[in-house]
Amino acid sequence: MFAVEIIAKKRDKQELSSDEIKFFVDGYAQETIPDYQASAWCMAVLLNGMTPTEATHYTLHMAHSGDMLDLHDIAPFVVDKHSTGGVGDKTTLIVAPLVAYHGLPVGKMSGRGLGFSGGTVDKLESIRGFNPSLSTEQFLQTLAQHGVVVSGQSADLAPADGKFYALRDVTATVTSLPLIAGSIMSKKIAAGADAIVLDVKVGRGAFMQTEAEAEALATLMVDIGQGVGRRVAAVLSDMNQPLGNTIGNALEVKEAIETLHGGGPTDLREHCLTIGGKMLQLADKAATLEEAKTMLATSLDGGQAWNKFVEWIVAQGGDQSQLENPDTLPQAPLVETVNAPNSGYISAIDAAEVGKTGVQLGGGRLQKSDIIDPSVGIVLHAKVGDECTAGTPLLTIHANDQTKLDAARQRLLEAIHWSDEPVEALPHTLKIIG
Ligand code: URA
Repeated sequence: MFAVEIIAKKRDKQELSSDEIKFFVDGYAQETIPDYQASAWCMAVLLNGMTPTEATHYTLHMAHSGDMLDLHDIAPFVVDKHSTGGVGDKTTLIVAPLVAYHGLPVGKMSGRGLGFSGGTVDKLESIRGFNPSLSTEQFLQTLAQHGVVVSGQSADLAPADGKFYALRDVTATVTSLPLIAGSIMSKKIAAGADAIVLDVKVGRGAFMQTEAEAEALATLMVDIGQGVGRRVAAVLSDMNQPLGNTIGNALEVKEAIETLHGGGPTDLREHCLTIGGKMLQLADKAATLEEAKTMLATSLDGGQAWNKFVEWIVAQGGDQSQLENPDTLPQAPLVETVNAPNSGYISAIDAAEVGKTGVQLGGGRLQKSDIIDPSVGIVLHAKVGDECTAGTPLLTIHANDQTKLDAARQRLLEAIHWSDEPVEALPHTLKIIG
């Protein structure tokens, strides 16, 4: 087989066989297929799609490109969650310890930022000492001892996805439905969880812009997971505006800490209760989603989730004193609050524009080799539906460079839309599948 023939076949809209997909996935993982051929193949898939059968083969070959974990020696039932990618999405930081506190082990493999969307691993790395690069042995040991572990892409688990993920990020091939499904489900299947909750984002700041696209992605992932015997549910949630108030790695860790203390923005807390609640429900720890959410709210407000968070971060090498004094997390040298230019109601905050501004400030990558600055980002002081008075704080920019700050101010003011009439707040959960 030759890579060029497989690229040509996909370019010509033909269905690839399992063997052809395996040849390509293994070839790229083992570096016998170079970046330029893998880029062309990803673009052909983005433009011409995959059949559900091709997407399933792609997922399983990616999962089998490394170790396949069986966690049953550690716990009878392990759960996992994964987001399709959004702006300001720090859900894992809150939900993983929250659910683990309820006696449900959470073993999770997370990604770095992708396109304009942030990544859990980048956020966690803003905590001094935190180690996301765990070997399989360390992953298992941390899960067994603490009931919660979050690892970055490793050389052991779904290594092919690690390579494709980084390539897609910088070749404008992120938004392909089968490539997203394969990327997420290969990691989930390899990491061995029995139940998986997929957080499928919809809207301007998501890779799926419409509910129909999101539902197609959710259904494909649920089918792939159930096909290999996992319990899978998908929550379709709104991503037209950022989740919570902060965008940027250290700023998002701070907001997660507030939420773990029982505070934090209402939309973020509600979203975490829904995702965590669905995890408890899939594991038969609660009869209904409402019951599960009430259990979780009690442990957010009572400090138990916070204690579990500290235990987990310290177990992965993180500095406890930084968690207890969040002001010691990385701080940007330039901090500017931008006031509302007029009075009125906020009718839209373009989440994609806010995400791209965060990347331009240095919080994300434009090239594979870019080093991100954990301190930069944006804090929103108002969300869609809020009424603002001219001259009151609208948002705060954290930057490391005055030129970038000036560009961000302009871009963010253009991303916020106004109405003279009252505007309804945006919904959180649109639909639950499975
Ligand atoms: N998250 C992933 O892990 N992969 C994607 O492709 C998109 C979001």
